[in-house]
Amino acid sequence: MTAAMDISITKVERSKLLDMSLENLPFGKYFTDHMLEADFENGEWKNIEIKPYQPLLLSPSLAALHYGQAIFEGIKAYKNEEGDAFIFRPHDNFNRFNISAERMQMPQVPEELFMEGMRQLIELDKNWIPFKEDHSLYIRPFMFSSDELIGVRPSDNYKFMIILSPTGPYYSTPMRIYVEEQYVRAAPGGVGYAKAAGNYGAAMYATAEAKKKGYDQVLWMDAYEHKYVQECGTMNVFFIIGNTAITPGLEQGTILNGVTRQSTIALLKEMGFTVEERELSIHDIIDAYKAGLLYEVFGTGTAATITLIKELRYKDFDMKFDVEQWKTAPTIKRWLADIREGRREDKYGWMVKV
Ligand code: COI
Repeated sequence: MTAAMDISITKVERSKLLDMSLENLPFGKYFTDHMLEADFENGEWKNIEIKPYQPLLLSPSLAALHYGQAIFEGIKAYKNEEGDAFIFRPHDNFNRFNISAERMQMPQVPEELFMEGMRQLIELDKNWIPFKEDHSLYIRPFMFSSDELIGVRPSDNYKFMIILSPTGPYYSTPMRIYVEEQYVRAAPGGVGYAKAAGNYGAAMYATAEAKKKGYDQVLWMDAYEHKYVQECGTMNVFFIIGNTAITPGLEQGTILNGVTRQSTIALLKEMGFTVEERELSIHDIIDAYKAGLLYEVFGTGTAATITLIKELRYKDFDMKFDVEQWKTAPTIKRWLADIREGRREDKYGWMVKV
């Protein structure tokens, strides 16, 4: 696609923002006035439109509904004190989107459609960006197969869309986590590294079982030995043991290459930690806890940002933490918020102006 990408724009007559406030928002419940929609047909992207947010008319035989060729991303936009809008590391999400597309045998989305489409959409709806602690404009690009055919094969047609949701915190309090030994999120050779919709659907049963036991989320373990930690709920996970921060490595393809994960690694190094991306067994975690060396455990994600973990339950063994005493995860969270809202130098070049 060339620089002359043509996006047709139809604006709403009256903004829904006139009827609501951007204070104390739940996560992902409200959507802005406009959305972006594009179709992949006959091998090319066409019908690129920004238009009023509205329902889609879909055939019951739509391929994505039957076989799950569907992927998405999560990105956030912020405002600084002057009211300028910035997007946090959107190129990283763009790259990951196309990695997910390849794994799900879907077409690549051109950079200009993804980035310029997102920029123009946010430009139009930038009054919807909240300016409040733990709030942001959550950007949800997604793509699904749109052939109207129930044969199992990759579609010829796809839809790419971006919707925007002014949003508050995803998890608002420190979490109690159940170490999951029976159900598995991802195995080597699978789709764990892709942001495939089915990864999230497939996680819901185990999460619901953990909730019945009184926990907020599960800590996923490896598929073979149920011993090496992987992700926590919808987040990457970090353990601070002594002066080292450890997070599971990406090499087996079972972990999502989180943008907040990468950012956290950079900020932990800036704080003077040694960061190791490697296998970490639950037994090593328990040993560190017993030795008084397991200082902090936290999850990272676009939606969740940084979420403290106050309890980890493995079989009959309970690890509890006094999160009020923690310094590292709260500092990372504050630094990220300060970079995003322009109070701390953006020395890594993470913020992209709209
Ligand atoms: C994100 O962190 O953006 C996610 O994708 C998590 C969840 C909202 C699905």
